[in-house]
Amino acid sequence: MFGFNRAKKAAAVGVATAAAAATALLGAPSAVAAPQPIVGGTTTTTTAYPFMMQLTDAWQNQFCGGTLVSPTKVVTAAHCMVGETTSSVRVVGGRTYLNGTNGAVRQVSKIWIHPGYTGTTNGDDVAVLTLSSSMPYTTASYVSSSDTGVYATGATARILGWGTTSSGGSSSNQLRTATVPIMSDSSCASSYGSDFIASDMVCAGYTSGGVDTCQGDSGGPLLIGDVLAGITSWGKGCAAPGYPGVYTRLTTFSSLVTAQINS
Ligand code: ARG
Repeated sequence: MFGFNRAKKAAAVGVATAAAAATALLGAPSAVAAPQPIVGGTTTTTTAYPFMMQLTDAWQNQFCGGTLVSPTKVVTAAHCMVGETTSSVRVVGGRTYLNGTNGAVRQVSKIWIHPGYTGTTNGDDVAVLTLSSSMPYTTASYVSSSDTGVYATGATARILGWGTTSSGGSSSNQLRTATVPIMSDSSCASSYGSDFIASDMVCAGYTSGGVDTCQGDSGGPLLIGDVLAGITSWGKGCAAPGYPGVYTRLTTFSSLVTAQINS
């Protein structure tokens, strides 16, 4: 299996301002486009994406993303929740900047991790958090189990997060977003071999790379037509040619997630 890129990002994050300043100083056009966060996207806000949540430690240091799907329920990746407890995690909504202090901070009263989860490349990378009290933000809808057609090859998917701007780089202080095409299961299997489990995963990205989620984006949404259809899970490096991002195929887990949301 590919042992890359599965660990949660370290909780303490460096913000990418030094790199941005260096780029601005250099000024002159370079032969290779500088990687950008989420690797290849644009900045955005939680006003534009109000369901986009930061998952943080007790000191509000972000380590993963999550999607608000009901006022008290957040969908994220199982691998984000490994080793966490209801007292170690916070969910922060309405905060565009990692160094902000605004928005709403909620404690977590329950963490459901898919009982089959053992590691990202084995699938089942989904978790649902129950918040101690409601978030005052608009929720996202998510796919139902019959919506499997959303993953048509070439469909445009939107990714969001505060993750690193290059593999092993620094996080983005501001929320970023990009769009990536859904990749066929057969091309993803040619990239990742048996680590790609088509029933549980879907790949998105360009064959040539350049746009991708990266460390710290995990747990965040893959939206197709404004509906939550995937969860940022894993990949080899970030934005590398031939190695797309791998997302939890949410249609497979939709009924389980609904059961948690109604529990
Ligand atoms: N595992 C990473 C995280 O925990 C996400 C990696 C996504 N990688 C990729 N190449 N798309 O934040």
